[in-house]
Amino acid sequence: MQKQKTVLDFQKMKAAGERISVLTCYDYPTALIMDGCGIDMILVGDSVGVVVAGYDNTLPVTMEEMIYHTRAVMRARPKAFVVADLPYLSYQIDLASARLNAGRLVKDGGAAAVKLEGGAHVADTISAICDMDIPVMAHIGLTPQSLHRMGGFKVQGKGEEQADRIFQDALAVEKAGAFSVVLEGIPMKLAQRISAELSIPTIGIGAGPHCDGQVLVLHDILGLCSKYSPKFVKRYADLGPVISGAVASYIAEVKAGTFPEEKHSFS
Ligand code: KIV
Repeated sequence: MQKQKTVLDFQKMKAAGERISVLTCYDYPTALIMDGCGIDMILVGDSVGVVVAGYDNTLPVTMEEMIYHTRAVMRARPKAFVVADLPYLSYQIDLASARLNAGRLVKDGGAAAVKLEGGAHVADTISAICDMDIPVMAHIGLTPQSLHRMGGFKVQGKGEEQADRIFQDALAVEKAGAFSVVLEGIPMKLAQRISAELSIPTIGIGAGPHCDGQVLVLHDILGLCSKYSPKFVKRYADLGPVISGAVASYIAEVKAGTFPEEKHSFS
């Protein structure tokens, strides 16, 4: 039987060179399936706003939406370690609201940890949340909530100066107490350097093969999100046509009167 994953496991996995598998998940049935496959960590990402709610970006996602989806995932009682994203505006205003909202994701949502975006400039926020005994996952490099500052979803840290700033961000979030850090959209050499330097595990997305673990958005690997298909995504299934086929067959059978049959009916 699978054991409940904790922060301690991820430290051990990094030390042993064992890669950490992470996927996003936003609902109960998918959490059951994913947990049954033995995923190490589930991220209830604010990407839910894009791939489930249909927003153009993650900025409109609310605390209530994050709590709703985190609770749905937690009802599967996953053995995987569950991290929930702090959405835009839930931690940027002041430390008190950051602490309150992190606490809500744990108390009301049931998450074991929270993730927030930013490097050195959010170090105080990370420390403040860690002081409440809530494990924090940091997220640096391409941070989707900074979309407008970055001028789009662009690879970060290509020049030497920018790369050094991201390296300093990595050091700062580790020092602030983060148990892990997502490295998104940065050159693989920079991710390799950060992963070698930090004692906490790095989880890459669009950051190459040298991170201590990898995360992808579930809908991207299942072929369920046709809006964007970034270079770093690998599609492991193409469920769009499978769902279309099933829906089209249902419509055709209802129209033809071949569904429902007697076996689907009560006498
Ligand atoms: O919201 C999310 O899914 C994320 C991952 C892309 C890391 O933050």
